[in-house]
Amino acid sequence: MTVSSEVLVKVEDLKMYFPIYSGIFQRKVGDVKAVDGVSLDIYEGETLGLVGESGCGKTTTGRTIIQLYKPTAGHVWFQGKDLATLKSEEMRQVRRNVQMIFQDPYASLNPRMTLREIIGEPILAFGAATGREIDDRVADLLKLVKLSPDFVGRYPHEFSGGQRQRIGIARSLAMNPQFIVCDEPISALDVSIQAQVINLFEDLQQQLGLTYLFVAHDLSMVRHISNRVAVMYLGIIAELADRDEIYGNPLHPYTKALLSSIPIPDPIYYETRKRIVLEGDVPSPANPPSGCRFRTRCPIGDAHCAEERPEMREVTAGHFVACFKA
Ligand SMILES: Nc1ncnc2c1ncn2[C@@H]1O[C@H](COP(=O)(O)OP(=O)(O)O)[C@@H](O)[C@H]1O
Ligand SMILES: [Mg+2]
Repeated sequence: MTVSSEVLVKVEDLKMYFPIYSGIFQRKVGDVKAVDGVSLDIYEGETLGLVGESGCGKTTTGRTIIQLYKPTAGHVWFQGKDLATLKSEEMRQVRRNVQMIFQDPYASLNPRMTLREIIGEPILAFGAATGREIDDRVADLLKLVKLSPDFVGRYPHEFSGGQRQRIGIARSLAMNPQFIVCDEPISALDVSIQAQVINLFEDLQQQLGLTYLFVAHDLSMVRHISNRVAVMYLGIIAELADRDEIYGNPLHPYTKALLSSIPIPDPIYYETRKRIVLEGDVPSPANPPSGCRFRTRCPIGDAHCAEERPEMREVTAGHFVACFKA
């Protein structure tokens, strides 16, 4: 994999709050702070893994970065352009360049459309080709994701989960995007075919020079594919580092806990290593703890952690952690 030193996507202090309404007058009573101050850079050609428990804000982060939601605060730059300031025609150009692949390959494909219509739709919508050209392009895209072009007239229900995810990938590639948010694209698939789909993502990255934000809920899933990994907890990034650094030298107590819970193939080490079991539940993002988000479940937190929010700091080159004690 060739990762360049150019930043393709720059995210700065991104926030996405969903209002909560209550009572007969539907007054606003608060916010779900799904994303609450996320900053990160994504380099051209890399795969940045984004990992954290269900509900921590991964999907919202992905959707907000590609402007499917209008951010509550913060900025996203794509190829140096601040997306908040773009005029509609410029935004249209960005839209074809950034895509999202969804978790559920059953829900994300229209069951009444043939593969020709599903994959050809974005091409038609952008007016990028017509008639025969679209058919050729759809056939090429099917070959690219290793499905037979003979399938163009078939419907999604005729395919397995893994094949459907390939169809979704083909659709997302229709406009030659540079950046793809892959939102848990293998979580709903059988374990036996997860590796195939991961390999496909890697092949496509090589061939097409794609950049990925690859979302997963556990660290074992992104280990193979990621160049760097960001660990998310309750709307914030707890730690971000190169892949080997995250797995070999985790600094944040939350990362350590996540890592201690993934099964490893060495039985002796597996028996002797310390399992860190986190107490309690993830607090509500509508009412997050003061100071450090993780302090209510942290084994090493103290009074300071309740008062002040730890900012991300670079502990060694490229290794960022949001913890006073790390
Ligand atoms: N459209 C929405 N409206 C209100 N709350 C939402 C919406 N989408 C997500 N949330 C809330 O935001 C939080 C983060 O959700 P999400 O980004 O889906 O997390 P993840 O993908 O990590 O599981 C959750 O508490 C979820 O209930
Ligand atoms: Mg999600």
